[in-house]
Amino acid sequence: MFGKKSIRWFKIFSSVEKAADVLPLNKPVKVEMDGEIVCMVRTPKGYFAFEEFCPHAKAPLIDGWADEHNCFICPYHRYKFDLETGFEKTCGGSALKRYPTEVRADGLFVGKESKGWF
Ligand code: FES
Repeated sequence: MFGKKSIRWFKIFSSVEKAADVLPLNKPVKVEMDGEIVCMVRTPKGYFAFEEFCPHAKAPLIDGWADEHNCFICPYHRYKFDLETGFEKTCGGSALKRYPTEVRADGLFVGKESKGWF
């Protein structure tokens, strides 16, 4: 169907156990997905992937952290982004670009949306 989004999946870790070893709780790690750097964080609610720089003023989000409400905190101005929705909860302005994640039997995958025919 023309114009409908599809998702291409990329294996980031070979197993969930490996992901849990590499990703400390609530602290992001940079990973490469299809030639693009994204941040990944493991929280008690799961695995989340999002853009490398803050949508507010481009702070490097690798220096941020997730809080007990499953929000990600930017280190520069402490804006809080809901990891489930991407919405910014401090001022209600910008939104964090997120990537879907999926735990499968053969690893942890991050998805990238693409438009086109399928
Ligand atoms: S740069 Fe992230 S909140 Fe301002």
